[in-house]
Amino acid sequence: MTTKIAVFASGSGSNFQAIQQAIEDGKLDARIEIVVTDKPDAYVVKRAGNFNIAVFSFVAKQYASKADYEQEIIDTLKEHEVDWIILAGYMRLIGSTLLSAFSNRIVNIHPSLLPSFPGKDAIGQAMEHGVKVTGVTVHFVDEGMDTGPILSQAAVEVVDGDRSATEARIHAVEHELYTSTLQKLFKNEIKLVH
Ligand code: GAR
Repeated sequence: MTTKIAVFASGSGSNFQAIQQAIEDGKLDARIEIVVTDKPDAYVVKRAGNFNIAVFSFVAKQYASKADYEQEIIDTLKEHEVDWIILAGYMRLIGSTLLSAFSNRIVNIHPSLLPSFPGKDAIGQAMEHGVKVTGVTVHFVDEGMDTGPILSQAAVEVVDGDRSATEARIHAVEHELYTSTLQKLFKNEIKLVH
């Protein structure tokens, strides 16, 4: 059965686009019902429009609390009968309201080999540290910052002193790893150790 997903993003949305492309190419049995963004001007909104996919955008500071805007997101996702939340460059911590409504149904991608370099600017952190190999992690979301159970990882060699070349390598690996991991997850083909 086709899995109904919501993609959450705050930025460019290249991972959103890779997921949609994989769906159109028949590599991922899913449907993006809606894109959720906390940045109404983000490029992902334009990309979603190109595919005629609905967008729910919100501005966090217009709400009294995280619970308030997360409840509105939940109501919207329920209307669209969404099964899974796929974070793709969504730069906000998921709160307990969303976590309990979508228990074990929220997945994130992070541009490092977790548990190394969690949080913001993981690629910058890795280069600053001088590592030679970094990578990409797809994991379940829990209440921590990039801490949930790991679903898949891939290594990427750093291009010494060249952030944009390193970033390009990481993005290419992300697009491949995210779509193939989601396909396995939705088909129940991933076994978690923890
Ligand atoms: C991706 O590299 C993703 O791994 C990262 O944001 C980028 C979004 O790119 N996410 C995080 O750092 C989450 N902690 P995109 O908007 O082009 O998909």
